[in-house]
Amino acid sequence: MPSSHAHIAERIEHALRGYASACGLSGGLLEAVEYALLGGGKRLRPVLAWRCAEAVGGDGERSLPGGVAVELVHAFSLVHDDLPALDNDDMRRGRPTLHIHAGEPMALLAGDAMLTLAFDAADRLCTDEPADLRLALIREVVEGTRSMIVGQVYDTLGGLGAGLSDLERLETVHRNKTGALIRAACRLGAMLGAGTPNDDGRLGAITGFAERLGLIFQIVDDVLDVEGSAAVVGKATGKDADAGKLTYPGVLGVDGSRAEIRRLQDEAEALIAPLGEPARPLIDLSRAMAQRDR
Ligand code: IPE
Ligand code: IPE
Ligand code: MG
Ligand code: MG
Ligand code: MG
Repeated sequence: MPSSHAHIAERIEHALRGYASACGLSGGLLEAVEYALLGGGKRLRPVLAWRCAEAVGGDGERSLPGGVAVELVHAFSLVHDDLPALDNDDMRRGRPTLHIHAGEPMALLAGDAMLTLAFDAADRLCTDEPADLRLALIREVVEGTRSMIVGQVYDTLGGLGAGLSDLERLETVHRNKTGALIRAACRLGAMLGAGTPNDDGRLGAITGFAERLGLIFQIVDDVLDVEGSAAVVGKATGKDADAGKLTYPGVLGVDGSRAEIRRLQDEAEALIAPLGEPARPLIDLSRAMAQRDR
């Protein structure tokens, strides 16, 4: 029986709260980390990790260390993404961004702390797992984080090689800045669910699925920036065009972006169809992610 969404959400919040309270921080730094890490958020990456563990026939609970690690990197990425030097945003998850709440120095340092602690979580929360799996988990967090930062550089500073079409540039930016952590979340979940980093075909299927879903997720984010209301989305909208960002609606239009989402969704579903019934909740989740309004 797959877990209910309410159960998964409760287990993830519990794991994140538990980790934050025992991670060795105190005072203003702990308060800042808790503000960024525990203050809402859809928790899509840990939920994906859980559903991917189930999709390979494993226990979702076992995915939690991977989910916590990726959520720490994600929270760090958002805190730094919102800084004046990057997107300069005042609102996140319906409340002031961390640098508005606690000042820029603390936001920078809390981001540094969360990034570092992601590797601690991937190591320390997995002491019962086999050694080869533990090493693979760390490598996965490294790879997801490296790509995310590469994507943030492309998005903020450019630097993509010449000779690429707009669509190729977009795909490169999105695959890195957003796709990589979603890919890592899914692969961590699948490896933890299977209890091994070795691929019997299912890890490959999950990886292909995750790569499509990661692109879909940022295309939806771009569409919400055009069409969403800040009150529902929980962050400022209408900013990407003003900031000169390369986005899917900017290149393909909103209708073209929606068509691209449908195309990628079909590909994603076909890739994990061979996993059968255990992958059903993962397909349902990906459909909800493609249709989200926040
Ligand atoms: C926002 O991610 C940043 C992107 C990569 C598009 P989410 O939409 O998952 O943010 P939260 O965690 O739910 O706030
Ligand atoms: C998010 O891209 C990329 C990150 C790695 C944080 P955006 O800059 O579009 O995310 P939002 O819209 O601020 O959440
Ligand atoms: Mg950004
Ligand atoms: Mg931003
Ligand atoms: Mg955005």
